[in-house]
Amino acid sequence: MSFFKQTIRSVPLGGQTVLVRADYNVPLEQDGTIADDFRIRSSLPTIKELLKDGCKVVIISHLGRPEGRDPRFSLEPVAQRLAELLGEPVRFVDQTVGDKVKMAIKRAPKRSVIMLENLRFHPEEEANDSTFAEKLAAGSTARYFVQDGFGVVHRAHASTAAITQFLPSVAGLLLEREYTTITEVMEKPEQPLVAVLGGAKVSDKISVIEAFIKTADKIIIGGVMANTFLAYRGISIGKSKFEPDEAAIIEGIYEAARERTGDKVDEFIVLPRDVAVASAFDASEPRQCKDIEEVKDGDIILDLGDKSIEAVAEIVKGAKTVVWSGTLGMAEFPHFAHGSARLALTLATNPQITSVIGGGDTADFVLHWDARGGDSFTHVSTGGSASLELMAGQKLPGIESLLDA
Ligand code: 3PG
Repeated sequence: MSFFKQTIRSVPLGGQTVLVRADYNVPLEQDGTIADDFRIRSSLPTIKELLKDGCKVVIISHLGRPEGRDPRFSLEPVAQRLAELLGEPVRFVDQTVGDKVKMAIKRAPKRSVIMLENLRFHPEEEANDSTFAEKLAAGSTARYFVQDGFGVVHRAHASTAAITQFLPSVAGLLLEREYTTITEVMEKPEQPLVAVLGGAKVSDKISVIEAFIKTADKIIIGGVMANTFLAYRGISIGKSKFEPDEAAIIEGIYEAARERTGDKVDEFIVLPRDVAVASAFDASEPRQCKDIEEVKDGDIILDLGDKSIEAVAEIVKGAKTVVWSGTLGMAEFPHFAHGSARLALTLATNPQITSVIGGGDTADFVLHWDARGGDSFTHVSTGGSASLELMAGQKLPGIESLLDA
């Protein structure tokens, strides 16, 4: 599938200064160190390509949701990690706009990397402020803007939208790969296509479920979302978390599914037939499996049961394409990560299946699970909400604003 926007391969970048928007919004440990560098590693192909072309690469990003300047959200540790991963110095500037930035870029040699301070230290970033975007463009002295922060292109911010009024703007290699991979599995999947949807909220995934009702051969539901579906079906879920006000949405989902599959709807939308429960919400609680009819008032459902896990593995093995978004249980508790771990294992050991994994928590889970840093799957998306919105067929402002191919 060809990409509909210009990329760094379409324009003459040789030796130019380029402003690159990355998404280095990485998870941090309590002590401020980087908990996971997947987003930094994923940005390397674009940066290496630009360095190969002799470019001066000026990188901008946000980190967290600071209110004004806050040293806990400085990008300096990210610049250090990027330098280690690149094997090249990264010059960090503790400002985002202004003369200090201009001077640092002027002084840096050709074929070098400069990283500016957190965009969100300036409220104008999230306000999509044109004056701020113009200052960013001018301060960087760049000839081109490269959007490679896939995880943030669903936001219309100064560094994703307004900036494109001031510099010719093209996509980086990560953005292109994310867009083409996700769009292809949604629009032209090799069938059978199985969607595995978990996580907490039906409301977050409604548009994605609607998209899969049109294209998938099966939709497997897990996580807290499965509790909400079970409760809607009148099944007792004890003390488990669920969303009590989503009945109308689920009714709509079943209506659309019935239109497509008639009386086979319960084979199409697959709910757990057994579950793993605990009597308290605590990682040390033992795992007890029971059929859903046997769930007691005091039980808390925290994972698929063992029979359902087997059933999911069998369905997935028969698929040619699997899109997975949302963990299948309380994956932070080892006793209740069995469903998610078994799904990851099934995908990793069946490389003939095209597997696309999206959504922040799911990506975090598989990256911790996978000793190969995500390479056991066809594609692990760096986007959380951005990947869900793209799966749902929505237009993303940070992509739409780039130059057409
Ligand atoms: C993300 O982590 O989903 C992106 O970096 C966007 O961050 P935000 O939700 O704070 O805008």
